[in-house]
Formats: sequence, structure tokens, C-alpha cells
Amino acid sequence: MSKLGAGIAITGIGSAAPKAILSNDHLSQMVETSDEWISTRTGMKNRHIASSTESLSQISARAAQQALSMAGITAADLDLIILATSTPDDLFGSACQVQSLIGATKAVAFDLTAACSGFIFALITASQFIRTGVHQNVLVIGADILSHWVDWSDRNTCVLFGDGAGAIVCQGIEQGDRLLAFEMYSDGSQNNRLNLPYIGESKPLVEDIEASVGTYRPIVMNGREVYRFAVAKVPEVIEKAMFRANITSEQIDWLLLHQANRRIIDAVAQRLKIPREKVLSNIAEYGNTSAASIPLALDEAVRQGRVQPGDIIAASGFGAGLTWGSAIFKWG
Ligand code: UT7
Repeated sequence: MSKLGAGIAITGIGSAAPKAILSNDHLSQMVETSDEWISTRTGMKNRHIASSTESLSQISARAAQQALSMAGITAADLDLIILATSTPDDLFGSACQVQSLIGATKAVAFDLTAACSGFIFALITASQFIRTGVHQNVLVIGADILSHWVDWSDRNTCVLFGDGAGAIVCQGIEQGDRLLAFEMYSDGSQNNRLNLPYIGESKPLVEDIEASVGTYRPIVMNGREVYRFAVAKVPEVIEKAMFRANITSEQIDWLLLHQANRRIIDAVAQRLKIPREKVLSNIAEYGNTSAASIPLALDEAVRQGRVQPGDIIAASGFGAGLTWGSAIFKWG
């Protein structure tokens, strides 16, 4: 157990994505769209799609194993696993399956649902357990297989989403705190902008009592409204976190946003006066992977040697709920 009031360091990262790659040209064979429309409106070229034999727990476990190996600890050292996902293999949660797959016998594991803000919300949740001295080694995973829940005949949404998983190891440290600041918000009054709703039909059980029996229906989104929300709220939430961290945008080494749309990323960077070369993005290769997008992009940048120990990263997630949040942290 770490000391009360300990700081947090992110000591390992990993990611995994399914093998199959669905390109814009493939999508053009499925719905009335084009590589030109998708590329210019979203910045996306490819997205990875999970097959019927690739589960969320499996890709999460692969990402987790890489993160553990970079951190130099084993799964048996973990105290807590938080799996941010909206697409568990099992509605009761998938974190415990990941726990079992990696052999984290001592840890407690649970799911956290906050759509595309899930990774940021999970990182912040993990930090509370570490700062209060309750846990020392925490695995935070952001993973989604939205392809399970896409209407593949709806060109408004089917071109946007892909599958993947990213994981980080957060550890308590006695000196210094690498999580410099965070902010998180939600606004349920705008809940109808982006949904993956349960729809049930009445099933009479006995006289005067009926149950609703059904399933979840494909993603529906008001893209324009979510776009407007993101461009307004994301710079604001990052500015608030920068204020708390007592830093200016010039001190930020990397801007790392949820990869929903290249135009949103560019607009936010412009508002914050962060130059393009300081923006991390892999949206072209993965599309919108929901809770996975931030750790997936960070893992790639760390392994490429772009992000170096001590670099300051301003990260922000936003999406269904509506939810949005920001975390400013030093890598390593
Ligand atoms: O991860 C959670 C957060 N999600 C987001 O942040 C998503 C935010 N929204 C967006 O990124 C954008 O709104 C989209 C990429 C979803 C859409 O881009 P847009 O520039 O806002 O397009 P639009 O919805 O205003 O649609 C423009 C036109 C429409 O045709 P009309 O009504 O002008 O005739 C659409 O029917 O483009 C049409 N359209 C398409 N055309 C070709 C919509 N999807 C497609 C498509 N291919 N795939």
C-alpha cells in the first residue's frame, strides 16, 4: 500500500487492435460514400474491425500485458483494474475476464462506462485510489468494439467507428505527482445527441405486471450537434485544467484528444494556439475507437520515441452522455 497523499506516475502503456482493416474504399462498396468524403470530413482512412473470434477482453488483455511489461511489473502486482468500455463482452462487465486472462489474482477489477470520455474518467478514478493511499499499482484500460453496435447501412455513422484497446499502468510514487490537473463534466440534458439505446417490447408476465424484453439498438448520433459541442467544450475543459495545473499552452508538449474527427482536433488545437506538430493523432489508421482512442494514440507516440519522459500531455475525451473531461500529465 502506498502512502496517503502519494503522487501518480504513468509507468507503462500498451495497445492492441484487431487485424482486419476496413478502408474507405471498402465502405464505398457498402454505402453511398467515398474516400474523398470520409477523408476530408473526418481525416479517417482505415479502421480495425474485430472478427467474431476476437473479444473485447482479449484485445484488452493484449494491451494490458504490453503496459505491464513496459512498467516492469507483473499482473500479480496489480491492486486494481479499471476497464473503461461501453461495449463489454458481457453486460455484467468484462474487467474480471481481463483480470483472469492476465492472471491479476490479487487485483479487484470493475468496468466504468463513460463512452468516449471513459479513458480520461478511468484515469482520474485510478488517481483517487492512488492518492488516498488505498492502491499502489493500477491498470487502466480503455477499450471498445463499437463495430458490434454500428448500423452498417447508415453512412452517417458506419464510416466513423473502429475497434481497439489501450492500457496504462499507474503507480503511486512518494515524490512528485505526474498528474498535474484534471476536470470532468457531464450534461444529461443533451443525452439524445448520441445513443446506443436499449429498446424493449412489452412482455406480460402475470395480470398487471409486464416486463420489457429487448436488446440494444445500433448507434444513433446527431453528428452536427456533437461536433458543435466538442469544438465548444473541449478547449474550455483543457483551459480549465491548464489553469489548475498553473501552466500555459506553450508549456504543453503534446495535445492528445479523443480521435473523433480530425477537424475537431485541428479546431481545438487552433483555439488553444497549439501548433500542428504538437498534436498526436492516428485517426487515419484507426477511426474513432471510443474509450481506446487516447491510449492507442499515446502508445504509438511513445513507442515511436516522439513522446519522451517528462513531456507534458494535455489529453481530453468527449462523447456520449454527454460527457467530457481533461487530464494534464507528465509522461513516465
Ligand atoms: O466519439 C463521440 C464523439 N463524436 C463526435 O465527435 C462526432 C462529431 N461529428 C462529426 O465528426 C461530424 O459531424 C460527422 C463526421 C459525423 C459528419 O460531418 P459533417 O460535416 O457534420 O456532415 P453533416 O452531418 O453535416 O452531413 C453533410 C452531408 C449530408 O448531406 P446533405 O444533408 O447535406 O445532403 C449527409 O447526408 O453529408 C452527408 N453524409 C455523407 N455523405 C457521404 C453523411 N455521411 C456521409 C458519408 N458519405 N459517409
